[in-house]
Amino acid sequence: MILVTGGAGFIGSNFILDWLAESDEPVLNIDALTYAGNTENLASLAGDDRYVFVRGDVCDRPLLDSLFATHAPRAVVHFAAESHVDRSIHGPAEFIRTNVEGTFTLLEAARSHWSNLPDAERQAFRFLHVSTDEVYGTLARDDAPFCETDTYEPNSPYSASKAASDHLVRAWHHTYGLPVVTTNCSNNYGPFHFPEKLVPLMIVNALARKPLPVYGDGLQVRDWLYVKDHCAAVRLVLARGQIGATYNVGGWNEKPNLEIVGTVCALLDEMQPHPDGSYAHLITHVPDRPGHDRRYAIDARKIERDLGWRPAETFESGLRKTVRWYLDSADWLARVQTGAYRQWVSANYDQRGA
Ligand code: NAD
Ligand code: DAU
Repeated sequence: MILVTGGAGFIGSNFILDWLAESDEPVLNIDALTYAGNTENLASLAGDDRYVFVRGDVCDRPLLDSLFATHAPRAVVHFAAESHVDRSIHGPAEFIRTNVEGTFTLLEAARSHWSNLPDAERQAFRFLHVSTDEVYGTLARDDAPFCETDTYEPNSPYSASKAASDHLVRAWHHTYGLPVVTTNCSNNYGPFHFPEKLVPLMIVNALARKPLPVYGDGLQVRDWLYVKDHCAAVRLVLARGQIGATYNVGGWNEKPNLEIVGTVCALLDEMQPHPDGSYAHLITHVPDRPGHDRRYAIDARKIERDLGWRPAETFESGLRKTVRWYLDSADWLARVQTGAYRQWVSANYDQRGA
């Protein structure tokens, strides 16, 4: 079996659903179920004996040791993290704990398990670390996209904590020989995305006829990738990635935020028109994110050349599927907008006047 961390979050739950749709190899999911973890994402696996869930923290070494001893996974796919840049600005401590200390603890538990395996299993073992393009910092308009050999220049507490975790993973390979691979991916969007992030927040607010808060001038650029394409890349890197290597994963799809929000509004206008007129009228510019990175772009030629990965979805097809999913998932959306969610929205947006 494989051990997945953070499998109740956005990307992790898509990964597990796709994994079990494509293979019969069981999955052990360890997730602390923070505000971002939601077992409902995996409700379709109820009664499936290929899926085991353990509520637990990646900082809990005794728990990790006992899970490695009991289940003897052949690989670890490490998604668990604090993932939201704005939350890292409001409260960085949890990002250091989970992203740095948690990755360290998981690496040590994996190393202890791996070093006691028989030769063949030791060679086959993999530790796949899921990371982000944000570790490379920000790009000017005409800079070349990020490639794997670029220097790390993280700018937010979130990206600094992910950069630290990438360095630990690298060092555990270099020093101890742990067979690691790392992926650095751009902005995902798709089903089960928690509505604190740009795309789902805009959908949720638009449907509630609330302002659509665009930070600053809205001309910051991100590269966007449909989550299932990211999951396919992770499966491929796990199967065939070179030990010790890193792979940049992206959609060749750079867009300014205002265009993303405009496209979401246009899709909603088409799929669920509102009598008061276009959702785009709700767009509101609000004070910017401190230290806001201006542009990210990914050079994904290495993973394409070495492993044959290309995204299957275009931005248009992926975003259409995503908006459809949210329109069809009103119950899921209502249930994730708990009191804690409303507190976060108030903490991040009231001061911005939105
Ligand atoms: P998410 O916030 O939706 O999910 C994170 C999951 O980790 C949640 O289920 C949460 O309960 C769990 N978790 C948090 N702290 C934990 C702990 N201490 N122990 C165990 N579980 C814990 O995040 P996501 O968007 O699914 O991102 C998953 C990974 O992918 C992260 O490592 C993130 O840095 C990386 N990533 C995300 C994106 C993106 O666009 N979302 C892009 C590139 C890379
Ligand atoms: O690049 C990969 C990263 O993408 C991942 O590592 C992170 O985990 C993930 O959260 C995401 O980070 P971003 O900061 O790019 O995503 P977010 O959805 O928070 O914001 C996308 C852009 O939209 C960013 O430029 C900020 C802007 N934005 C965001 C929110 C929430 C707004 O203008 N208004 C908003 O209300």
